[in-house]
Amino acid sequence: MKVLVTGGLGFIGSHTVVELQNKGFEVVIIDNLSNSSIEVLDGITAITGVKPHFEKLDLKEKVDVVQFFEKYNDIVGVIHFAASKAVGESVKEPLMYYENNIGTLVYMLQEVSKLDKQNFIFSSSCTVYGQADELPITENAPIKPAESPYGNTKQIGEEIIRDTCKVNDNLSCIALRYFNPIGAHPSAEIGELPIGVPQNLVPYITQTGIGMREQLSVFGGDYETPDGTCIRDYIHVVDLAKAHVIALERLLEEKNLSNYEVFNLGTGKGSSVLEAIESFDRVSGKSLKYQIVGRREGDITAAYADTTKANDVLGWKTELTLDDAMASAWKWEQKIRNT
Ligand SMILES: NC(=O)c1ccc[n+]([C@@H]2O[C@H](COP(=O)([O-])OP(=O)(O)OC[C@H]3O[C@@H](n4cnc5c(N)ncnc54)[C@H](O)[C@@H]3O)[C@@H](O)[C@H]2O)c1
Repeated sequence: MKVLVTGGLGFIGSHTVVELQNKGFEVVIIDNLSNSSIEVLDGITAITGVKPHFEKLDLKEKVDVVQFFEKYNDIVGVIHFAASKAVGESVKEPLMYYENNIGTLVYMLQEVSKLDKQNFIFSSSCTVYGQADELPITENAPIKPAESPYGNTKQIGEEIIRDTCKVNDNLSCIALRYFNPIGAHPSAEIGELPIGVPQNLVPYITQTGIGMREQLSVFGGDYETPDGTCIRDYIHVVDLAKAHVIALERLLEEKNLSNYEVFNLGTGKGSSVLEAIESFDRVSGKSLKYQIVGRREGDITAAYADTTKANDVLGWKTELTLDDAMASAWKWEQKIRNT
C-alpha cells in the first residue's frame, strides 16, 4: 500500500518513514529540502534496507502538487508533516508561515479529496493549548489564542481540516497534537538536523555537550514549578513515529469513530529543564555547563499530555524513556560531528 509522507526527510517525517517501511508500506516522500538534507534518504535506506521513492517538490507550487497526484493516484494515505516550524521566524515572517503552512495544506486537501482512498494525517501541536488551565492536558482543553503565527497555523490548519471533513464524508482525517519530540533513531542513522542555532532544548544540550556551544542558557529559574524551570512532555521521536503508523492503520481499517479525530501524543509525564539536563549528564557521563538566565517571552510554565485518549482509543502508548531519548540524541550528535 502506497503512502505519501510530505516533509519525509525532516526530523519526525524520516523516523515515520522508517516505521512505515518496517511495517511493509511503500512510501513516497515529498520534500523541498528547505529544512532537511538529501542524505537522510541514505539513513532511511541503511536502517530499513529499502529506499523510499523521493520527489523533490515544493508544495507551494500548486501545479506540481496536482501533477504529483496524477502520477501517484493509487496513494491510500497521506501523512502531512511539511511545514515551517521556527516560532521566532514566524513572528518576523508571518506571511511566509501562512503561505507555507496553510496554502500547502489547502492544496493537499484539494488533491486528496480526488483520490479513491482519502486518508489524511496532520501534524498539529500542543501549542494550540497555550498555558492550559488544567494539567495534564486533555484533547477537550480549550484552544487558547495562539502566541505566534506558527502556532496560529496549527490552529487554523485544524479548523480547515475539520470544515473540509464536515462537507466530505469520504475524507477521513486525524490531527495529532505532538508535545515535545526529541531523540533520534537508536542506530544513529537519522536524527534531528537543526540549521543554525537550535531553537529547541535537546539539540542545544547535545551541541553544548560536544563543545559547539559554550554553555546552555536556561530561560527562567523562577517559574512556579518544583525546581523553578519550565516543564514539558518530552516524547521520543521513535514512539511518536509509531503513533503515525497506528493512526494510519486506524483509518485504513476504518476503525475511526468519526471522520475527524484529534489525539494528544505525549508521554503523560512532565520533566523540567533541569531534569532534562540531569538526564543528559546521566547518559553521557558529562556535566553540562549551564546558566539560569531571564525568562524568554512567550514560554509557558508547564505542559504535559493526558494520554488516556491516545492509549485507550488510538491504542498507542510510549515505550521509551527520557533517558532513552537523550542517549539516542547524544549518540546522533557524536556521529554527525565525528563524520
Ligand atoms: N519538532 C517539533 O517539536 C514539532 C512539534 C509539534 C509539531 N511539529 C510539526 O511536525 C511537523 C514536522 O516537524 P519536524 O520537526 O519534523 O520539522 P522538519 O523541519 O524537520 O521537517 C519538515 C520537512 O518539511 C519540508 N518542507 C517544508 N516546507 C515544504 C514545502 N513547501 N514543500 C515540501 N517540503 C517542505 C522541510 O524541508 C523538512 O524536511 C511540522 O508540521 C511541525 O510543525 C513539530
